[in-house]
Amino acid sequence: MAVKKLKRGVALVGAGMTSFGTFPGLNTRDLFVQAFQEMRASVDKGFDPKDIEALVIGNYSSTMFEGQNFMGPYVADAVGLTPIPASRVECACASSGLALRQAIMTIGSGLADVVLVGGLEKESDLPIARVTDVLATASDSVYENPAGFTFPGLYALLATAYMHRYGATPETFMKIAIKNHENGVLNPKAQFGARIADIMASKQKSAAKRGKPVPQWDSELDFLKDDQANPAIAWPMRLFDCSPVSDGAVALLLVAEEIASSFTDKPLHIIGYGQGSDVPTYERESLTSIKAARVAAEQAYATAGVKPQDIKVCEVHDCFTIAELIAIEDLGFFKPGEGHKAIAEGLTSRLGPRPINSSGGLKSKGHPVGATGAGQVVEVFKQMRGEAGPRQVPGDLNLGLTHNLGGSGMAAIVHIFERRQ
Ligand code: COA
Repeated sequence: MAVKKLKRGVALVGAGMTSFGTFPGLNTRDLFVQAFQEMRASVDKGFDPKDIEALVIGNYSSTMFEGQNFMGPYVADAVGLTPIPASRVECACASSGLALRQAIMTIGSGLADVVLVGGLEKESDLPIARVTDVLATASDSVYENPAGFTFPGLYALLATAYMHRYGATPETFMKIAIKNHENGVLNPKAQFGARIADIMASKQKSAAKRGKPVPQWDSELDFLKDDQANPAIAWPMRLFDCSPVSDGAVALLLVAEEIASSFTDKPLHIIGYGQGSDVPTYERESLTSIKAARVAAEQAYATAGVKPQDIKVCEVHDCFTIAELIAIEDLGFFKPGEGHKAIAEGLTSRLGPRPINSSGGLKSKGHPVGATGAGQVVEVFKQMRGEAGPRQVPGDLNLGLTHNLGGSGMAAIVHIFERRQ
């Protein structure tokens, strides 16, 4: 593969986000204003918003979630940025990963020096059945959707294929959920800031308070195997294998590398970038790997000139627990079929040799789909600058990676960040 690189370097100098969760009464614009304010405060040396030359936002479906199809200029107006060019891009759950890529290309081409990137989604105003339908429009409307596939169903398909091929069991998926809830507890922005053990205790307390029989579980795994506590959504994906329905917004500030030092002494240089696509699930040669992600990772490693083992901190797209398992193999951290053993050994825990999803991942932090890719970048920004507080991953985190999937893996976007000081 010929490696084609940007004409000039791009750096990330600011990042902010709302909490992820459900926020009745707030729309995506309200949320984006909050994220923008936090991003502004994160730029160490400050900046004048008048210096922003373009806005690119990722949004999957405000059209169906909140009746707002056309978005870019409305969002620009909400943060006082008109009349700059303001665009919205869509790539299902990778919408803001794509927004980041488009912003990088805008600066890399020389068209602008300072670009604001956003991600936003407001899902919780609709009832769950309708949310499921809206999300399912990211699946194939000719064959998958009419056959009854929802997103939990599509990822259940990948999970059963992986179990069949490599001998993994549902316990592997449960261990991913346990780990990501452990990490999410340390993230004040997470939708589920509770360990599974805390959730068990609260269910027991609530049953006792209501005078009902108090359920007993020996361990978190015991709880997750309980069909009542953790029902199947689409077997083998149970409730705790799914990311939740979320609202949220994220704002990132990108600048041309040569002016980064006037914004901060701790810029992150975006040295690797890749994007891939794939065919629908029913046409794939394999369901245990996502080709779009392998292609995106290959491009990102090649443009960055680094190898998987060089990466110190990494956020992957765990919309369902199986997606995290496949991601750590597609990114080259573990060989195909070995990821489930690594998870069983705890290698991907926050303090392990290959920390994955220190933020809590989509599972625990939340998954407002259009905001997710940019949200992953916020975590890498904080971790690599040593600003992640109690969830700080130890060590010299000079290289970080984000992996953002669209739909069932029809699209994937990977970025690699470098801290040079
Ligand atoms: N993980 C763990 N617990 C969850 C959860 C999740 N993903 N979603 C909801 N819960 C909990 C709630 O906190 C609540 O707990 P409580 O009874 O102790 O208060 C309980 O489950 C019921 O919550 P509710 O909001 O009624 O759940 P729901 O049945 O409406 O939704 C799912 C559950 C799994 C169907 C929903 O989260 C979902 O569709 N997730 C997947 C989203 C998706 O497909 N995204 C795109 C990915 S590509």
